[in-house]
Amino acid sequence: MPVITTIEDLRRLYKRRVPRMFYDYAESGSWTEQTFRDNVADFSRIRLRQRVAVDMSNRSTRTGMAGREVAMPVALAPVGLTGMQSADGEIKAARAAERFGVPYTLSTMSVCSIEDVAAHTSEPFWFQLYVMKDQDFMANLLRRAREAGCDTLVLTLDLQILGQRHKDLKNGLSTPPKLTPSTLLNLSTKWRWGLGMLGTQRRQFGNIVGHAKGVSDTRSLASWTAEQFDPQLDWSKVEKIKKDWGGKLILKGILDAEDARMAAKVGADAIIVSNHGGRQLDGAMSAIRMLPAILDAVGDKVEVHMDGGIRSGQDVLKALALGAKGTYIGRAYTYGLGALGEAGVTRALEIIHKELDTTMALCGERDVHDLERHNLILPQGFDDPTRPI
Ligand code: GLV
Repeated sequence: MPVITTIEDLRRLYKRRVPRMFYDYAESGSWTEQTFRDNVADFSRIRLRQRVAVDMSNRSTRTGMAGREVAMPVALAPVGLTGMQSADGEIKAARAAERFGVPYTLSTMSVCSIEDVAAHTSEPFWFQLYVMKDQDFMANLLRRAREAGCDTLVLTLDLQILGQRHKDLKNGLSTPPKLTPSTLLNLSTKWRWGLGMLGTQRRQFGNIVGHAKGVSDTRSLASWTAEQFDPQLDWSKVEKIKKDWGGKLILKGILDAEDARMAAKVGADAIIVSNHGGRQLDGAMSAIRMLPAILDAVGDKVEVHMDGGIRSGQDVLKALALGAKGTYIGRAYTYGLGALGEAGVTRALEIIHKELDTTMALCGERDVHDLERHNLILPQGFDDPTRPI
């Protein structure tokens, strides 16, 4: 076993252990993958201001996200098909998050169902919703989430139709995988993954198979999206969902100051500045570069979180110093899950926490609440979203 000290170490091990189809699903963006790459690259353009001879004892990364106390402001983002990266993956990730003291967000497009995750955890997790055409199914999903104890709904606004991801089409992505000769050949080298899958019954989209009707291929994310997701989603529907849900609401997929103002107006508890990990509109700006303009527009009205491109605790610190109150990791924990199961998710969280804590100390800060722009050195024009740099 290689010595694991970084998220990149987990990615490499993950790539070896998980079938190509699911590795490619996670490790890709849409079209040319420009935005997918920019999310990571733009973090690396920011430099940190080193300070010395400052008391660095008694440091704390504890804070709150949307009213939940967190050990560090890093939640697990909703990730579709998590249970295909490792058997019962959603349960494993939710348990690791709970032990660490950070929120877990279950995707609508998960393999383990809302009820499965609730039965294996003891604290409320967050539920991510895609808006569907079928009103009864939507009402049913919200009721199921409420009954499972979910206190926060994360409503995704940037995926009513699917951005095209070439690798998924070429690989014939499906849940569970169709056993074609090339898939079988690849699976034959992934015995650890296969043994796990043989040991579980959870191999379909647990929240929707058997609950939603009218889908021609129940194994395909593309079919579900094309046939079920509501392309007529607008702000009046967001308002209705807020009312029907009644609990905390986080709006995910905001990348524009105008949309952020609308989100604040409908009374969201928080927004997530996000381009869906570069998986939707390729060519959109990176999330970290849009963060300052969105904070200028609504930072005093709504709690602003961000995701996209975070692969280290240093990235988390940069987002917080720019003004985000919370961050999310998706791929970073998925690498850990695919590499080492539940222990790998814990390892990813530990790596990120240690990097955040040490970096904070070397920047002369002791508390995540004190991180500010004075800790950063930004390239010229970085926070001007009207032009690429
Ligand atoms: C969402 O489910 C995605 O694949 O990005």
